[in-house]
Amino acid sequence: MTSFCLSDVMERAKYSTNTKYILLFIIVCLVISLALERIPDTYRKFMPPYKSMLMCSSQISDQTITPLDNTKHFMVSAFMDQRVKGFDIRIISIFRRDSIQPLHCLFCCVDHLSDTTPATVLVHSDHFDFPYGATDVMCQIPHNCNATHVTLMPHTMRSMNPMWLPLRNKKTHEKYTSFEFNFTVCISALFGGYNNVLQFAQTLEIYRLLGVGRVVVYNNSGGPELSRLLHSYSQEGLVELVQWPIHNYLNPSHGWRLSVHGGDLQYYGQLVALNECIYRSMERSRYVLLNDIDEIIMPYQHDNLTSLMDTLQPQHPNTGVFIIQALVYPKKTTKESNKGYVDAWRQVPGFNILQRIYWEDRNDKQYHRHKMLVQPRFVEQTSVHYVLKLFGEKYKIPEQLCHIMHSVTKHLTERPLEELHLDKRLWDFKDRVIPRVTEMLRRAGLPSSEEEADE
Ligand SMILES: *[C@@H]1O[C@H](CO)[C@@H](O)[C@H](O)[C@H]1NC(C)=O
Ligand SMILES: *[C@@H]1O[C@H](CO)[C@@H](O)[C@H](O)[C@H]1NC(C)=O
Ligand SMILES: *[C@@H]1O[C@H](CO)[C@@H](O)[C@H](O)[C@H]1NC(C)=O
Ligand SMILES: *[C@@H]1O[C@H](CO)[C@@H](O)[C@H](O)[C@H]1NC(C)=O
Repeated sequence: MTSFCLSDVMERAKYSTNTKYILLFIIVCLVISLALERIPDTYRKFMPPYKSMLMCSSQISDQTITPLDNTKHFMVSAFMDQRVKGFDIRIISIFRRDSIQPLHCLFCCVDHLSDTTPATVLVHSDHFDFPYGATDVMCQIPHNCNATHVTLMPHTMRSMNPMWLPLRNKKTHEKYTSFEFNFTVCISALFGGYNNVLQFAQTLEIYRLLGVGRVVVYNNSGGPELSRLLHSYSQEGLVELVQWPIHNYLNPSHGWRLSVHGGDLQYYGQLVALNECIYRSMERSRYVLLNDIDEIIMPYQHDNLTSLMDTLQPQHPNTGVFIIQALVYPKKTTKESNKGYVDAWRQVPGFNILQRIYWEDRNDKQYHRHKMLVQPRFVEQTSVHYVLKLFGEKYKIPEQLCHIMHSVTKHLTERPLEELHLDKRLWDFKDRVIPRVTEMLRRAGLPSSEEEADE
């Protein structure tokens, strides 16, 4: 404690040349510190929260990515997580793998500043050899601390102005029985000016009809029209925007192969975002869907995901990870696919997925054609196509029960119609989706030919 108070003095010293004032402050600081250290815990609750005020109030990070002072690492979010014995907290972080030093956890408690506890640093195994990787920092909360905020510090160097992360997921396990959402979709790292507005809006509306209550979007750099649409959806409540300005801190890679794409961190930090989304959803969503925005996890024998999982989960009670096969729906223009055309959307950027009604057979040489639907409480660390650490079991859902419709943007080899399979499942949603999408486009002020006709 004393050292923190002193570090506060040092800060002040930067702005003051009056040595008498500094000396006086040091003495006051020492007296207060010593007094505080000696007060028995039972009386502490009557004390003004001096330490917490000193250390926590002005330095709470409001950023998604928070640099960790005196290190090359970054913190993202801190969550209560007592599923692994010996730990209370998991801080989702981004660490430079070749520069890991011993760290300590420090807590703001409701009425005092805690002593430090040693941190355990767990780098996720799927870093693809990039210098930086998704990392969990595990901490134990000291006794008698009702923790509100946490930060990390190197063993040797005490930070002058540590940035605090608020501690999230503080509900107790009993409350897990009622969820705000049944399904949450995590869309990691929107980047490169992605602007497929039409696909995005239709996909969001179909998710909603399938029972999805929340779509978390990690935004690095969406295009201008898409940004307008997302702002509308976030005001309306379906979309939760998380700003993800990773390029301000690192040189993010455009892919996952270091030798081909270069950079500091795999695919705009996609894995960090996905893990953050799992923990963000843990207390509020029964299931989390880890798919991209050009993918829809579609049940074929149930009306929606709720009835699918209400059937599957009781058959697989200990299963936390459901693996779902993806099929590619390429662009293919035919007389039939033209029946999905919507004239009102003519001028909206992007393509209309109602015209994607053919899927192609899998090419086994292509890697990982599946994604996951998980119960977040069963997951400890995740990757994109599989879970790295889990509690409980995995189950692959049969393709005819549910598969992913992947409406690809770019496709190199166009196949002849005989090699494609007709699937008009999306049209079951057509009548409900078209007016909703048109309305959301209107709210976002995006061009629609109906409005033109009115003018
Ligand atoms: C911890 O502090 C919060 C207020 O910040 C309070 O609501 C909660 O009851 C406290 N928990 C315990 C175990 O004292
Ligand atoms: C979640 O699904 C259950 C059925 O399993 C349903 O009763 C409940 O209303 C749904 N909750 C929400 C928020 O949609
Ligand atoms: C899901 O489908 C069932 C009927 O199969 C229906 O009763 C229920 O309301 C639907 N739930 C949602 C969230 O649409
Ligand atoms: C996404 O991020 C970019 C770049 O920071 C920003 O210009 C844009 O407004 C953001 N969009 C949304 C929907 O937050």
